[in-house]
Amino acid sequence: MTKELLKNFNISTFQNDILSWYGETKRDLPWRRERDPYKIWVSEIMLQQTKVDTVIPYFNRFIDKYPTVYELAAANQQDVLKTWEGLGYYSRARNLQNAVREVVEKYDGKVPSTPKELSSLKGIGPYTKGAILSIAYNQPEPAVDGNVMRVFSRLLMIEEDIAQPRTKKLFEEYVRQVISEEDPSSFNQAIMDLGATICTPKSPACMFCPVQEHCQAFAEGVQEHLPIKAKSKKQKTMPYVVLLIKNNYGEYVIEKRAENGLLANLWQFPMVPINEISIEYLENWVYNEYGLRVRLGEQKGKLKHVFSHIIWQLEIYDATTDQVETEDKRLIFVNKADISKYPFPVSHQKMFKHIEGMEK
Ligand code: ADE
Repeated sequence: MTKELLKNFNISTFQNDILSWYGETKRDLPWRRERDPYKIWVSEIMLQQTKVDTVIPYFNRFIDKYPTVYELAAANQQDVLKTWEGLGYYSRARNLQNAVREVVEKYDGKVPSTPKELSSLKGIGPYTKGAILSIAYNQPEPAVDGNVMRVFSRLLMIEEDIAQPRTKKLFEEYVRQVISEEDPSSFNQAIMDLGATICTPKSPACMFCPVQEHCQAFAEGVQEHLPIKAKSKKQKTMPYVVLLIKNNYGEYVIEKRAENGLLANLWQFPMVPINEISIEYLENWVYNEYGLRVRLGEQKGKLKHVFSHIIWQLEIYDATTDQVETEDKRLIFVNKADISKYPFPVSHQKMFKHIEGMEK
């Protein structure tokens, strides 16, 4: 089936055109300065769902702190999450550290170079596997993410829905046939750069495209209509009250989130779903679900935070307690000055400004 679409596609001139363009224009990115498989791995995990400009400072800080698999394997998970703070999708950091620990234990600290071993590691799916094998080990393996699907859907005028998992497999087959055997590392990175700088989702810069003459969508004038992607389900809205609870010593209550699921093992100010708040909460001292006597104060603000699948609608309240500890293991009391030592999701970092005298 892939043969048909490639019938009129000149693979070797395409490779020459894209590789010489990459040779002349490649972006100078910190993970491109050497070919250390660990650094490439870290960069590819960070780059999932996150733009290059956002990743660069995180990558540099992360590598300064954990220059090899050994430092990352030995690190405390809370420190790793703190270094990842603000980058989002925190399971990436937890999986990366778990996988790196396995590399130290099972592979003597050397990042594996076979598809089978790599895919057995936590957090390494087909994309990351292909990126590590091609970029670090120069093996002709596809590394297909949304950007690569966009580029190839236009080049070959593929009209399959890219939201379907089986479509990704189809693109992998195409890339396998088109990828340069001599320089698969540059080939995959060239496609990534093309997708980021020229073959962009909206208003692609076809006039500057080094492979314009190979592009079937451009020839038909349909580049802006590709790729085809079915709309994803609408996110579910979840309303919460967030409590900035202070005790008589000026300490605040913070809560460690569960060890699985959304934002696992990060810290937050206690949150209560709005429909679980009873009317007596509003004025009286109450024992809330944490076994804490709290009195609600004034509302400090509202905040909306959009995740990929849910939306948090947060109403933030000052609150006070006359306690200095609780039996609930999730909760601790901390000084203002110490709050920012804990890893918080971005939505809760935004609440720091409501805490008087707290530096961010
Ligand atoms: N996006 C994902 N991986 C990338 C890489 N290695 N270089 C540039 N952009 C990327």
